[in-house]
Amino acid sequence: MKNTFKAVPVAEGVWWVGAIDWNIRDFHGYQTQRGSTYNAYLVVADKITLIDTVKAPFQEEMMTRIASVIDPGKIDYIVSNHSEMDHSGALPAVIAAVNPEKVFASTVGAKTLKELFPLDRDITPVKDGETLSLGSCTLTFLETRMLHWPDSMFTYIKEKELLFSQDAFGMHYASLERFADECDPALLSYEAATYYANILLPYSPLVQKLIEKVTAAGLSFRIIAPDHGPIWRKETGGIIGSYAKWAAQKPEAKAVVVYATMWQSTEKMARAISEGLAAGGLHVKLMEMDATHRSDVAYELLGASVLAVGSPTLNNHLLPNIADILTYLKGLKPKNLIGAAFGSYGWSGEAVKQIEDVFAEMKIEKAEGIRVKNVPNVELLSRCYELGKEMAEKVRCRL
Ligand code: FEO
Repeated sequence: MKNTFKAVPVAEGVWWVGAIDWNIRDFHGYQTQRGSTYNAYLVVADKITLIDTVKAPFQEEMMTRIASVIDPGKIDYIVSNHSEMDHSGALPAVIAAVNPEKVFASTVGAKTLKELFPLDRDITPVKDGETLSLGSCTLTFLETRMLHWPDSMFTYIKEKELLFSQDAFGMHYASLERFADECDPALLSYEAATYYANILLPYSPLVQKLIEKVTAAGLSFRIIAPDHGPIWRKETGGIIGSYAKWAAQKPEAKAVVVYATMWQSTEKMARAISEGLAAGGLHVKLMEMDATHRSDVAYELLGASVLAVGSPTLNNHLLPNIADILTYLKGLKPKNLIGAAFGSYGWSGEAVKQIEDVFAEMKIEKAEGIRVKNVPNVELLSRCYELGKEMAEKVRCRL
């Protein structure tokens, strides 16, 4: 049967040759409800170059897409922009199959690839700003260290104003549409924000510096081709502007209340705090952790100014799903939050202090914590409501 996996033209001489993973639903704790793509790109110039590869099980799909354009044995160069295995897993097999003249990666990437795989050949390191002529066009390598691994880099083709941006500006979204302008804009906006919140948020200061750097260098981007999700070929400033906004983490009139409950006492407190926050003028997202995935909490925290976390005490500790979300959020390092801890208890009641300890580690400004023995009465619920209202008023004074 004739192969049905085809390459998709991106620009003159540039093809998408990646793979679509319709079924992946978890990416290191981040729920990828719409699957993903692993984007690889073929630049057909005097030197034929493959930019990134795919996750190992998708090697055949990538190779057959390449074969729809050229004989894969004609590939001269491979550039690894990012050595994480969703982009490099197929690299050893591709090197063995096509025997390229050279494989390029950042200085850290060259070492990392050798640590990840038993490669019996050298990887050529390239420095920030270094260029590589492919004959009819030139690649420029831009280090993007810690966005989001130490090895990460971009590759730019100035003649085409085309940026291969590895994970940055991507999203986990499996589709047969290859370009953002072919997709539902609301869905893209949601998935791009979710991806930023769950992957890039901790590196926001570096995102800001990178945007400043490329702006100062006067680089223009007609096409941004990330390693996941659709390619941006119209109004690339839109996604760059969104990154600038998300990276700034400017607080908005928004609060997130997450909680778990055993016998609904902590839930009553969560609802009273939420009502107070709303009465104070904030938009409130109330999220019960048995019904909510941690990656949705990360998404909702983009632009939030209040994070209230509630847990009853179970065997002197937090309920497990609250420990889970706190561990996850601690790693994501959200900024500019006021935090309140709350929870009911039967006899020991350590949970509120444990939440506050995590807030301290996260450098979250602490509001009053509220502990309730057994069931909150009307006065205690009123105190929860007032706590919400006070936090909202504090936020509104700062906006
Ligand atoms: Fe898509 Fe960091 O790998």
